[in-house]
Amino acid sequence: MPAIHEILTRRLDPAWKPGEPSALLPDYAERMAALAQAQKEIAEATARFTTAIAGADDAVTLQAVRNAALSRENGAFTEALALMPQLTVEEKRVSGRALNLGKALVEAAEKAKRDALERSRDSGDAIDVTLPGRRPWTGRPHVLAQVREELLDLFHGLGFSVYTSPEVELESYNFGKLNFAPDHPARDAHDTYFVNSEVLLRTHTSPGWVRAMEERKPPLRLVFPGRVYRAEAVDASHMDQFHQMDGLYVAKNVSMADLKATLNAFARAIYRRDVPTRIIPIYFPFVEPGVQMDVQCATCTGTGRVREGRCPVCKGTKWVEVLGAGMVHPNVFRAVGYDPEQVTGFAFGMGLERITMGRHGIHEIREFLQNDVRFLEQF
Ligand code: DAH
Repeated sequence: MPAIHEILTRRLDPAWKPGEPSALLPDYAERMAALAQAQKEIAEATARFTTAIAGADDAVTLQAVRNAALSRENGAFTEALALMPQLTVEEKRVSGRALNLGKALVEAAEKAKRDALERSRDSGDAIDVTLPGRRPWTGRPHVLAQVREELLDLFHGLGFSVYTSPEVELESYNFGKLNFAPDHPARDAHDTYFVNSEVLLRTHTSPGWVRAMEERKPPLRLVFPGRVYRAEAVDASHMDQFHQMDGLYVAKNVSMADLKATLNAFARAIYRRDVPTRIIPIYFPFVEPGVQMDVQCATCTGTGRVREGRCPVCKGTKWVEVLGAGMVHPNVFRAVGYDPEQVTGFAFGMGLERITMGRHGIHEIREFLQNDVRFLEQF
């Protein structure tokens, strides 16, 4: 004859997850203590069932544990109680009492657990109409894309179309045909990533003009938005990749006055209706004359000073540089097969990060590419 506790443990399943039965039955500890005093092994087997009942996550698992313990055909307690007639009077007295206590405890735990599962299912189905709604998460264009779209919109209104050109560019388009002489120090301003001696990652969007002019006949009125690369040491104001937008207008009799009018239209649309601007001479190999346009510093409103002293944005100069520009150099026209006696043109090029940082007071250029939603969702 098998021992009673052996029958009781036969149908235990090691996959059952234990839970805490005193959460189901407030008097569990007392009842368990009484049972342990009556018969230790039966108490241990009972605890295996009650903890499995407490740990059951769903009605199906609960039913499986219940059946293993109490099923009328082959439940562990049913089979153990069926052995009673074969025991001595003394054994019957001890084990019979313990088995009845254990069985009652399993039944009580099972009923409490079944009620609890039902309650949680009911409340899971109910809709609490007093809860605030959950706003769906919506994406948005990146702040640089927003500024790019705004610029494209502006230039579209001024008659410019978009032209895109490769980020992996020939050295001759990035430099040579833009009138950078092979050993000219102007190349030093562009810390270039070379793929090989003829191929590089473009350092500016100006090579787009060369491609557009080689491909098309004048007149041309184009903007060239895109990503550019420089082998910079990365810090708060330098990245090894950033964005530019060049513009090019080539036709008969395009003049410096056209350039100034276009740049002022740009500054008024993007900065402020009445923002003071200035144009000062500066050297770029692909334009002659070459200029830089500055807008009045918005931080110190052109005084060069803030309350604490020198303005940190313009460093006291009262102006901030926004772009490079100029009249297309005759050598560039020659390089693309245009006749500089027949056409003239202006060009400009601006950095999108610079405009965006100025507008939003962003002091860390690396934020643009870090994809931190806490940064991006501000714009
Ligand atoms: N490509 C120049 C740079 O990245 C910027 C520039 C200057 C563009 C003058 C122009 C221009 O179109 O006319 O430094």
